[in-house]
Amino acid sequence: MATSAPITGQAPDPAPALTFPPGFLWGTATASYQIEGAAREDGRTPSIWDVYSHTPGRVLNGDTGDVADDHYHRWREDLDILADLGVGAYRFSVAWPRVQPTGSGPANAKGIDFYSRLVDGLLERGIKPVATLYHWDLPQELEDAGGWPVRETAHRFAEYAGIVADALGDRVPTWTTLNEPWCSAFLGYGSGVHAPGRTDAADSLRAAHHLNLAHGLAVRELRDRLPAGAEVSVTLNLHQVRPVSDSPEDVDAARRIDGTANRVFTGPMLDGAYPQDVRDDTAHLTDWSFVQDGDTALIHQPLDFLGVNYYSPTLVAHDPQGAEHGSDGHGASEHSPWPAGDGVAFHQAPGPRTAMGWGIDPTGLYDLLVRVGREHPGLPVVITENGAAFDDRVGDDGRVDDPERVAYLRGHLSEVHRAIESGVDVRGYFLWSLLDNFEWGYGYSKRFGAVYVDYATQRRIPKSSAHWFGQVARTGTLPR
Ligand code: NOJ
Repeated sequence: MATSAPITGQAPDPAPALTFPPGFLWGTATASYQIEGAAREDGRTPSIWDVYSHTPGRVLNGDTGDVADDHYHRWREDLDILADLGVGAYRFSVAWPRVQPTGSGPANAKGIDFYSRLVDGLLERGIKPVATLYHWDLPQELEDAGGWPVRETAHRFAEYAGIVADALGDRVPTWTTLNEPWCSAFLGYGSGVHAPGRTDAADSLRAAHHLNLAHGLAVRELRDRLPAGAEVSVTLNLHQVRPVSDSPEDVDAARRIDGTANRVFTGPMLDGAYPQDVRDDTAHLTDWSFVQDGDTALIHQPLDFLGVNYYSPTLVAHDPQGAEHGSDGHGASEHSPWPAGDGVAFHQAPGPRTAMGWGIDPTGLYDLLVRVGREHPGLPVVITENGAAFDDRVGDDGRVDDPERVAYLRGHLSEVHRAIESGVDVRGYFLWSLLDNFEWGYGYSKRFGAVYVDYATQRRIPKSSAHWFGQVARTGTLPR
């Protein structure tokens, strides 16, 4: 029978695989409170997350990090899994209350020893350790003294940074001061959906400034103590804020949210000043007198790269009713994490979502990377977190098949590749997370891991995404 289509005898050319630059760093990431457990062992004192999670009603199902993935005892097995994946790097965080239990004064040798063994274990397996100093576990004693809204906390952090640098600096080549200070400041002290659960908009701005200051002081400490060649960075959850329309009102809502999402951190850290519009937009809450002479110069330290965490874009509109509503992707609260968010509504784009309810849009990562490249030329970028929660289940065959996660990672990695092709200096990509773990206010209900954790038995099962990602990492190539 005749056909109108030409017959060539060949399948159409498949799209070519995408190859990343030589030396591109592939890794997975975790954080201390989310995986370690052993909350009362070897001299560790409570952090704000222990107190918060033990407060009824704060965390879904009353979950706490008391046991988590029991990584404190199972770290060897976890590092073996990491080595099997074949990734080149592992981003972990140091628990401040293990290393310096009261938040001031001498180090706790047993706490240091844990991280020292972990680092040695990584190096023995040929995996590059990437250490984050603060992934949200502030010693409770420092919160009792006022927490991040108090200036002294920044000095405490610098002292702690020095202790860790002295202990691990000979073996850890890459350092991050803070992870997502936006969450610490605005979810911790503004909306209260993160520890310590306070709800005071002015305090959240004070906290933001003292986190910035802590970063600057810690970078100085690290530079003084680390060997030449060590890399120092900070990780920000830069929001890709998009207005729902081109109307001047929506565009202005996006500008305001961009101010307290992004520029309140990138301003002082990368440009040496707080943007005037951020100050103006929050002038009804504070006179900013907590910023002392010399602070912004101190915060503005040269960095070796910027760590960026990205999950989903933030879609905003002007809301004539004047009240903020909708989800910002960080849990509902009657209080707002947006000090300049009056009259702003948060929208969800139509389309697929993860189990967190976060819209899946890899172009947001591309746009974010291009923006960083444009606004901060010469500053390399590492994606220190990207990933997704899905409702993973163990199949009858004992495997965990997670095609949605593979699709999510594939989509985002091709946008990273596109950003590199557009000239953005992206140096690495860390999948969040190595293991299913304690997802903050959502407890164990959300699974972000490439490796499934059966919490009843602590059995680990690498998901199909782990095998897929390992292959990408080993070959430096994204197959089509
Ligand atoms: C960013 C945080 O750094 C991490 O701790 C968290 O689990 C992921 N986002 C997913 O929400």
